[in-house]
Amino acid sequence: MKYEVIPKKVLVTGGAGFIGSNLIDALLENENKVVCLDNFATGKIENLKDAQKNPNFTLIKGDIRDRDTCMKAVEGCDYVLHQAALGSVPRSIADPITSTEVNIVGFVNMLFAAKEAGVKRFVYAASSSTYGDHKDLPKVEHVIGNSLSPYAITKYVDELFAKNFSDIYGIETVGLRYFNVFGRRQDPNGAYAAVIPKFVSNLLKHESPLINGDGKNSRDFTYIDNVIQANLLAAAVPSNEFKDRLKQYQKIVSDVPEVNTEASISEVFNVAYGESVSLNELGKVLKQELSEYDKAIATIEFKYGPNRPGDVSHSLASIKKGQTILGYFPKYSFRTGLKNACFWYWENFK
Ligand SMILES: NC(=O)c1ccc[n+]([C@@H]2O[C@H](COP(=O)([O-])OP(=O)(O)OC[C@H]3O[C@@H](n4cnc5c(N)ncnc54)[C@H](O)[C@@H]3O)[C@@H](O)[C@H]2O)c1
Repeated sequence: MKYEVIPKKVLVTGGAGFIGSNLIDALLENENKVVCLDNFATGKIENLKDAQKNPNFTLIKGDIRDRDTCMKAVEGCDYVLHQAALGSVPRSIADPITSTEVNIVGFVNMLFAAKEAGVKRFVYAASSSTYGDHKDLPKVEHVIGNSLSPYAITKYVDELFAKNFSDIYGIETVGLRYFNVFGRRQDPNGAYAAVIPKFVSNLLKHESPLINGDGKNSRDFTYIDNVIQANLLAAAVPSNEFKDRLKQYQKIVSDVPEVNTEASISEVFNVAYGESVSLNELGKVLKQELSEYDKAIATIEFKYGPNRPGDVSHSLASIKKGQTILGYFPKYSFRTGLKNACFWYWENFK
């Protein structure tokens, strides 16, 4: 995927993970110099096997909870794409302390290191979980509810810190609220695997996947290449254009609270496709796609269990803000993305 960005030095934290490693490949393809900081808590070295062949790539094994490590990693970088965190709502319910240490203290360490190093813009992985119990659909960035899990709280607190650092220290911050990202390299294994890789892995083993709830819960599933596009745009849009477009957006959407466009940039954006798919529909499409490779999968039935605590029922994003300000027009629909992902899982896990 080629983007019109001026080559820079970029730090990707969490770069051995699903999203981070895909970002690194895209940045290297666009001739950036890339530093990856990861402690391999959930990331894998195999995800970096292409990157490691590239002379523009540097790997630092280290923990974002250690401030000196963050300071060293960010030295000389123009941008940070901060992805390192402990994901998963159930993980944060089982161990809220570690999720808080990594997702909040680690986040502030990285943000602090970035502003000390004079980084131009700090782009970070926020989360759709920040919408919490707010019922309105589609989700618009300035209307959020109460957080439903420790994970959601950590991601919301990150947004508050980012805004505060922009106001006080002037570092530009852009939060990308990802909505259920899926695609190549997303880990299908472990207790905290995300729904798509977990279902794919079950189906490939001819096991019945378990749907939490009645299957009518829905998600705005977002293919990884759309997320890459959003990150590269979030880093690349020049400050003056960003602010001009922010003014435009404020005119289009009447109830957006007024932002002081003289101040440093600090905004959050939904990163989604803008289409809602129920878990029942997901199951049906997965069976269709995977039975292209293995006919027996077409006959596997899904099981149903209780809803999980901390999960939101429905999620659907408005992507108008990203379209207007970042020029984010996602190219991969749920269906096209799922076809690509199924092909990748078949090739790698059959
Ligand atoms: N995947 C999604 O659907 C989704 C949705 C919303 C937000 N997010 C956010 O996107 C980011 C990336 O998620 P992902 O799906 O690629 O998860 P992932 O688990 O594959 O990647 C996270 C990476 O961070 C690293 N990491 C964890 N703790 C660390 C620490 N203390 N120090 C250094 N590195 C550490 C892990 O080893 C891993 O490589 C996370 O911030 C996550 O919260 C993801």
